[in-house]
Amino acid sequence: MIFKKGELFCGPGGLSLGAKLAEAVNEDGEVFRVEHEWANDYHEETCDTFRLNICPDKPESVICGDVRKLDIKSLPPIDAFAFGFPCNDYSIVGETKGLEGEYGPLYTYGIKVLKHHQPKFFIAENVGGLESANEGKAFIQILKAMEDAGYNITPHLYKFEEYSLPQARHRIIIVGIRKDLGWKFQVPKAPYKNQPEKWTSAKSVIENPPISENALNHEFTNHAQKVVDMLTIIRPGDNAWADYIPEELRLKVKGAKMSNIYKRLDLKSPAYTVTGSGGGGTHMYHYAEPRALTNRERARLQTFPDWYEFVGKKESVRRQIGMAVPVDGAKIIIQAILDSFAGNEYKTEPSKWEDELAEMLETGKKAKKKKRTGTTKKKKEEAPENQTELELPIQ
Ligand SMILES: C[S@@+](CC[C@H](N)C(=O)[O-])C[C@H]1O[C@@H](n2cnc3c(N)ncnc32)[C@H](O)[C@@H]1O
Repeated sequence: MIFKKGELFCGPGGLSLGAKLAEAVNEDGEVFRVEHEWANDYHEETCDTFRLNICPDKPESVICGDVRKLDIKSLPPIDAFAFGFPCNDYSIVGETKGLEGEYGPLYTYGIKVLKHHQPKFFIAENVGGLESANEGKAFIQILKAMEDAGYNITPHLYKFEEYSLPQARHRIIIVGIRKDLGWKFQVPKAPYKNQPEKWTSAKSVIENPPISENALNHEFTNHAQKVVDMLTIIRPGDNAWADYIPEELRLKVKGAKMSNIYKRLDLKSPAYTVTGSGGGGTHMYHYAEPRALTNRERARLQTFPDWYEFVGKKESVRRQIGMAVPVDGAKIIIQAILDSFAGNEYKTEPSKWEDELAEMLETGKKAKKKKRTGTTKKKKEEAPENQTELELPIQ
């Protein structure tokens, strides 16, 4: 069975490549896979990257333009739909405008696609901050709209490092299965939950296999000498706020001191979240060399293969890579969807909102969680794809 896929906010194609790589075969030998049909994004170079790597034979199937002007009804029929709606207004870092922001309401275009095209399944992605935006109302409103469009939904907070990816990236992914099909998606089990000793280190994927000098998108940054000096002193895993940095090399920054500023990768751990923008100091820093990662190194952390070519200048490519769903993460989830359609068994785990979802959808409010003893509630700093710009003068 071939699922023709449409996608809004397609980005450079992380989710799409994951979908392309997934495949299930049922007991009778029937193959289940996803095939690109059409996609939309409003960023020119992002569209070019998608065309080049995902659908070089059908470049016209990527419609480059604002989703608000897209004629959704005229798009070809689809069986599968993906939309990683922009997260800028849902990220905890910066001002959380949620549904009142410029980007917050864009999810409604995904709902329009669901209502009109009624694909058999959909997959939607956003940052973990979506759960708390607008005092939790935005999340429930979005889930309700998906349900009302005719889908059994399974939202879950995926922690990709627990699935063996070389990056701590936590994202809410919602899978919807059309209600008439009569079943609900089950979250594939994370094999390494609470087992950090088994997680894949950033170092291992940056070094194996070695990246050749002329690799695609492997341009180095020219740093100011002061940055090189500061990075030389910062130990792997530490950031610009380490107390052993001498006064003359310290950053003079007022206000919030975000933990990813000039943060060097740790030698043994997965990378922290690869982000799409942000000023100097947020470009993710090498564990052994006093420099920012190249885009190819970032792409490896996002599990893009080395043949995947990003179109555009260095900053544009950084934006594209940081915004993508990690390819292997998308593949794991879409593989589970295809296995479900094929009737194949796979290991599952309860979704994060399993017990509360029905009540959330019915009452429109977040169900009260049972108090756990021994835990303290702390608002976590979260890295969005679109990091709020920081006023750091040096690169
Ligand atoms: C989080 S990224 C999606 C990444 C994608 N799922 C992937 O895996 O590569 C969101 C995308 O939405 C696009 N976008 C934001 N606002 C848009 C709009 N009004 N119309 C069309 N695309 C938009 C951005 O250019 C960006 O590429």
